[in-house]
Amino acid sequence: MLPLQSKRIVLGVTGSIACYKAADLASKLTQLGAEVDVILTGAAQHFIKPLTFQSVTGRRTYVDQDLWGPEGHVLHVKLGKDADLLLIAPATANTLAKLAAGQADNLLTLTALAATAPLMLAPAMDGGMYDHPATQASLDTLRARGAQIHGPVSGHLASGLSGVGRMLEPAELAGHARVALGASGPLAGRRVLVTAGGTQEPIDPVRVIANRSSGKQGYALAQAALDMGAQVTLVSGPTALTPPVGAEFVRVQTAVEMRNAVLAHAAGADMLLMAAAVADFRPSNAANKKIKRAEGVPTVELAANPDILKEVSQQAGKPRLLVGFAAESNDLLANAQGKLASKGLDMIVANDVSAQDAGFEVDTNRVILLTKDGAQEELPLLSKYEVARKVLEKALSLLK
Ligand code: PMT
Repeated sequence: MLPLQSKRIVLGVTGSIACYKAADLASKLTQLGAEVDVILTGAAQHFIKPLTFQSVTGRRTYVDQDLWGPEGHVLHVKLGKDADLLLIAPATANTLAKLAAGQADNLLTLTALAATAPLMLAPAMDGGMYDHPATQASLDTLRARGAQIHGPVSGHLASGLSGVGRMLEPAELAGHARVALGASGPLAGRRVLVTAGGTQEPIDPVRVIANRSSGKQGYALAQAALDMGAQVTLVSGPTALTPPVGAEFVRVQTAVEMRNAVLAHAAGADMLLMAAAVADFRPSNAANKKIKRAEGVPTVELAANPDILKEVSQQAGKPRLLVGFAAESNDLLANAQGKLASKGLDMIVANDVSAQDAGFEVDTNRVILLTKDGAQEELPLLSKYEVARKVLEKALSLLK
């Protein structure tokens, strides 16, 4: 299942050099499964052609001439009413002023008046135009009416100057769109705490004991929970991944730091999903200077790390549902069942890591969901995002 399947987005594109980024945004939203209806203003068409958007969305792109075509009397109403989100990116100072004034002199602004969906705006313009009191007043008016405004951000501007005025990057805007479109999903009103990635345990300032976890499964859980409407906190060990837009993000390095972060965020959470590969041991005395080869082979003495899940399960005010993961290369079910019981969990995701296409680092996973009532659900090979959706659906059914 694609995250934005069956969602309709009207993407309004107005006359700014950032139009070229709007094509990437349209492509990203389409790849996420949304049906994207693009409306170009006349000024936008000086920068970019309808064919560009038709090519990436696979759908017709609308321009002002369509207002006067055979369906002209209903087109803006239909586009507006069918939309789940009206996203205008880039939004120029001129279009912001028109929207604030309720002016409707082109297909996009007419559609905005007819739309009942949430309005999301990504302003893009020169820094001076953005700072102008007229533009700021338009933004204040639109914000007060409930519009979500994301960006602009600081950086190089087309004028050659540097300042605030650049449109937010398409990947971030797509993230905001996911949050807005998921807001009324099945996890709306729920707080979900997710851990991801492997912990690193320092041996000295340069070296660590680490493991192969990339964080992909945990980040997919956080993103899927956001797509389903949850308020998400993601506690992550070091990874190369970008945290999902909309999640509260807590970066940690060691198991002890992860424990502290999890305990600090556990109270009041509806569920804790521990996809992290937490190191069970750490060097008991990390050297504070780099250990030199010339000093000979060192002996690294280890101390036990806290068992985070076990500790949380014994806390008053713990999350209502505790979900662990167990990456196993042999005796998958027996080992996972042992951890389910010994850690006081409601569910464990038994993760077969013996195959090339499952477990650490890869984009797919193969898991069995075990619940404390003894039930088992074996899932086929799925993307880590699909696994995340299934885990969350199961967890939600247990919560209910
Ligand atoms: O990050 P990826 O590359 O996408 O890989 C995903 C994954 C394979 C890491 C993930 O799907 C997974 O299986 N995570 C659990 C790893 C594991 O084997 O954990 P464990 O068996 O050591 O621990 C069992 C459970 O207890 C886990 O939920 C773990 O987070 C938790 N634990 C472990 C040790 C510890 N000291 N405290 C804990 O709370």
